[in-house]
Amino acid sequence: MGRGGRKVALFLAAGLLALWLLYGMLSTCGWDDQRPLMMAKERYVVSSDRKVYSYDRFMPLIFIGGVPRSGTTLMRAMLDAHPDVRCGQETRVIPRILQMRSHWLKSQKESLRLEEAGLSKKVLDSAIAAFCLEIIARHGDPAPRLCNKDPLTLKSAAYLAELFPQAKFIFMLRDGRATVHSIISRKVTITGFDLTSYRQCLTKWNSAIQIMYNQCREVGSSRCLMVHYEQLVLHPREWMHKILGFLEVPWNETVLHHEEHINKPGGVSLSKVERSSDQVIKPVYLDALTKWVGNIPEDVVRDMAEIAPMLSVLGYDPYANPPAYGSPDAYVADNTKRIRANGRLWEDKAKALLEGHLEDSASDMPPAA
Ligand SMILES: *[C@@H]1O[C@H](CO)[C@@H](O)[C@H](O)[C@H]1NC(C)=O
Repeated sequence: MGRGGRKVALFLAAGLLALWLLYGMLSTCGWDDQRPLMMAKERYVVSSDRKVYSYDRFMPLIFIGGVPRSGTTLMRAMLDAHPDVRCGQETRVIPRILQMRSHWLKSQKESLRLEEAGLSKKVLDSAIAAFCLEIIARHGDPAPRLCNKDPLTLKSAAYLAELFPQAKFIFMLRDGRATVHSIISRKVTITGFDLTSYRQCLTKWNSAIQIMYNQCREVGSSRCLMVHYEQLVLHPREWMHKILGFLEVPWNETVLHHEEHINKPGGVSLSKVERSSDQVIKPVYLDALTKWVGNIPEDVVRDMAEIAPMLSVLGYDPYANPPAYGSPDAYVADNTKRIRANGRLWEDKAKALLEGHLEDSASDMPPAA
C-alpha cells in the first residue's frame, strides 16, 4: 500500500470510530431526544479481589416483591446463596422514592409545576432510575446479577420494568390468612394495616395483592414470575429450577442450602433488625404453612370469600381451613423434623446472630399506599 492509500485507510478508520462512538452515545440516551443531554460518567464498583463491575440501567436486575410476610426474605436468601446473585437486605428507600413519584403524578398541579420547571418525564425517570440503581449496586457486595428485595416495589412493577428494560420480577404469593396472621402475631407495622383487626388486615391484604397482581400481569409472564410461597417450601428443588431458568441464572445446588451461607462472603447477608432474619437462618421448613388455622375470629372465617376475593383468584379455597397445600419433598419433611427436635438450638442461634436486636425490630415498613 502506498502512502496515499494508508492515509485513506487511517481516515476511514477514524471516521468509523467516530460513528461508533456517536452510535454508542445515542443508543444510551435515546434517539428521540433532540436536546443535548449531560452524560453521566460510567458507574462501577470494585470488589475485594479487585475485579471491576460496571452497572447501568440496561443490566438484567432482579426484583423480588409481594405483600410483606409472604416469603420474600426466604426467596432472596435462596438467591443470595447463589454465587452469581446478590440481593441483600431491604433498602427501604427504593419503595419510598417510587411512592413519592406516584404522589407527584397523582397531583395535577404538581405535575404541571414539574413539567413547567423542565422536569419532564424523561428527566425524572432518569433521576429515579439512577437513584435506585445506585442504592442497589452499592449497598452490598458486587455480583454479576444484582437483585433487590423491598416487598412493596411490586406495586410499581410496570414503572420499574420501564426504567429497567432488562429487569425481571419475582412476585411472592402466599395464602392471605397466613400472611395476615404473621403480620398480626409478629406485630409487623405496615401503614394502613390495623393490627387489632383480622377483618381489616385481610381487606388491606386483598387490595395490596390485587394491585400487585395487575402490575405483574401488565409486565407479562416473560418478565414477571408468580411464585407461591407454599409451593416453594414444599418443593424447593422443582421451584428453584423454574426460578433460575426464568432468570437465566445457571443451576447451583447452593440455592437449596441457603442456611449454610448466612453472613458468609458472597452469601446471605442478614440485617439484625429485619423481621424475618430469625426465620431464614433455618433450612427450608414447613411450620409456617398452617400456623394461622384456629387464630382467625369465626365471623371473619365465615365471610372470608367476601373479605378476600383474591384468595380464590390465586387458587386458595377461602372455605378450607387450611386448604390442602400439598405434601412436601422428603428432605423438607426431614428439615422440619430436625428443627422441631432442636427448638432451643435454633433459638440460641437466632439470638447469637441478631445480638439482641430482635426486640426493637418492630420496624415500620414503608407506607403501603
Ligand atoms: C456452585 O457454587 C459454588 C460456591 O460458590 C462453586 O464453588 C461451584 O463451582 C458452583 N457450581 C457450579 C456448578 O457452578
